[in-house]
Amino acid sequence: MAEKFEPRIVGFLCNWCSYAGADLAGTSKLKVPASLMPIRVMCSSRVDPVLVETAFLQGVDGVLVAGCHPGDCHYDEGNYYARRRFAVLKKVVECLGLESDRLRLSWVSASEGKRFADVVNEFNEKIKEMGPSPIKEKKSL
Ligand code: FES
Repeated sequence: MAEKFEPRIVGFLCNWCSYAGADLAGTSKLKVPASLMPIRVMCSSRVDPVLVETAFLQGVDGVLVAGCHPGDCHYDEGNYYARRRFAVLKKVVECLGLESDRLRLSWVSASEGKRFADVVNEFNEKIKEMGPSPIKEKKSL
């Protein structure tokens, strides 16, 4: 009998907004899938593309980068840099042989616990539809 697929998702969460939003989701007892492995970063702009590539090459099924809403970054323009970098990273993900939708960028503020839960739940479902990462499957051969 085939095992039920439970995605593994790495979430790079900006300390000031999205990580606090995740905290609020938790204290509000909102359901967030256990598939998310949160990593706190000081700003979405601090997510080096190499970290994202490494996560995918290690076989994770999806990567979420979440930061402050445009105009709210605590370092003024960090999330604008992240947004530009994200457009290029989507192409890199395709070059790795993965669907670009396995990488997601979202804006979640500290007061948006519900939004955080919705973003993660929706992304988790999308990854489930896509199935396991082909890189992970190749690694397990
Ligand atoms: S501090 Fe949150 S995205 Fe820059």
